[in-house]
Amino acid sequence: MKGGRLKTCVLISGSGTNLQALIDACAAPDFPAEIVLVISNRADAGGLDRARRAGIPTRIIPHKDYASREAFDAAIDAALRAAGVEFVCLAGFMRLLTAGFVNQWRDRLINIHPSLLPAFKGIDAVEQALAAGVSKTGCTVHFVRPEMDAGPILLQAEVPVEVADTSETLHDRIRQAEHRCYPEALRLISAGKVRVDGESVMFSE
Ligand code: GAR
Repeated sequence: MKGGRLKTCVLISGSGTNLQALIDACAAPDFPAEIVLVISNRADAGGLDRARRAGIPTRIIPHKDYASREAFDAAIDAALRAAGVEFVCLAGFMRLLTAGFVNQWRDRLINIHPSLLPAFKGIDAVEQALAAGVSKTGCTVHFVRPEMDAGPILLQAEVPVEVADTSETLHDRIRQAEHRCYPEALRLISAGKVRVDGESVMFSE
């Protein structure tokens, strides 16, 4: 492939179903990105096994081992650079990153969030949607900015809320949408079809 595949790291904290969707997409020989590293801040994250099964190098960097957020983020940054990482996907990574780290990786760092941003920011986005009584919610892939769950929006997908939904059933439905959106977002970026202009995302053919 011309220019090689985009060397991508996925940061996780949990089950890693979005990581799995990215792994599956990258398995296609013509997919323009490859996952060269998976980093988890938790040793018990289920996503680590998904990476190991796929033969992807993993690093466990426990946030509790570091005295400050800056020191933790510096350890992540060092791991990314050591592995020659060019692009970073947050996939259920439940730590807030410092402005210094985010600005270092500006426009090379994306996140997936289980709501239609800017609605329902924060860790309990699915519960917030249920509590608000909305009939539709969804997922958002966005470039990361220092403010929580903010940044230029790349892709969104809408998901219906059913009357009988619990946070589990609704989150399952949102995850299905996420598993389509996240690989598509990474494909568009690594194929050079996305340009970030300030706070806007531009698409080209
Ligand atoms: C996903 O739904 C993702 O959007 C959410 O965590 C889940 C991780 O699932 N992220 C956030 O809430 C970030 N604020 P996964 O580990 O199965 O991919």
